[in-house]
Amino acid sequence: LSIVHFWALIFTYMWAGPHHLHYTALPDWTQSVGMVFSLILLAPSWGGMINGIMTLSGAWHKLRDDPILRFLIVSLSFYGMSTFEGPMMSIKTVNALSHYTDWTVGHVHSGALGWVGLVTMGSMYYLIPRLYGQKKMYSVPAIELHFWVATIGIVLYIAAMWIAGVMQGLMWRSINPDGSLTYTFVESVKATFPFYVIRLLGGLLYLGGMVVMAWNTFMTVRNGQVPEVRIPALNPAHA
Ligand code: HEM
Ligand code: HEM
Repeated sequence: LSIVHFWALIFTYMWAGPHHLHYTALPDWTQSVGMVFSLILLAPSWGGMINGIMTLSGAWHKLRDDPILRFLIVSLSFYGMSTFEGPMMSIKTVNALSHYTDWTVGHVHSGALGWVGLVTMGSMYYLIPRLYGQKKMYSVPAIELHFWVATIGIVLYIAAMWIAGVMQGLMWRSINPDGSLTYTFVESVKATFPFYVIRLLGGLLYLGGMVVMAWNTFMTVRNGQVPEVRIPALNPAHA
């Protein structure tokens, strides 16, 4: 299934690009092709996501005491979430509302912070102790703390951007009976301000988690040693 996932993504994603260019000078039919392929993308994306999550079948209890596994599984959930949201946003009538708003920025970061960020951190927590000849990171509770702080940070970020984005879209398209705009652009920026404060809070939490990780990495590396690696001679005559 991983191999089918990979090739299906390769084949489908390259037709989906026009979803970034809805309602631009791009020919209308090209935009429709982009929308259709974006909707098709839901299948391989979710196939991969479910394949990843099902890898834990029969071992769910490990999530209770392994915070690294939690990073990896929750990152897959964010992958599933952003690859559901993406196809929805690629539908032209939905995009007419979401395009240019903070909804897009929220979508970006549920992928960037949730999927890419968490899977990277989880992998690094797995690799770092091994690189330095240790069984585990210096502090496992600190990994736990990082996980929760980062997850709450992401949720604050994306929830604020969803609400802000839909609000901006609705304000920009709202017109008076005489055809004039109901709101000026500046009014929409002012209305968005509280959501930017919530995003700032989410971002600070996410950053705070990285600081905890930096400390934990420093302590692990300080206590560890690089194991001696024996590189076999390429030429047996020199062995
Ligand atoms: C099936 C999967 C996905 C589809 C169909 C999809 C679709 C979309 C759509 C329709 C937009 C809005 C375009 C616009 O109105 O300007 C968008 C923006 C974006 N998406 Fe996705 N998305 C998917 C998954 C992801 C994932 C997993 C990530 C990150 C890891 C991601 C990163 C982005 C970025 C960075 C933008 C903003 C680009 C920009 O304008 O700066 N997407 N996506
Ligand atoms: C604490 C973490 C982060 C915060 C608070 C943050 C905040 C922001 C802000 C304020 C913007 C500008 C949005 C706008 O145009 O109005 C932005 C854009 C962007 N960020 Fe982040 N970011 C963070 C981490 C990341 C990470 C880790 C990635 C990638 C792995 C990323 C990828 C992007 C991308 C692709 C854009 C352009 C989005 C677009 O134009 O639609 N960000 N970010």
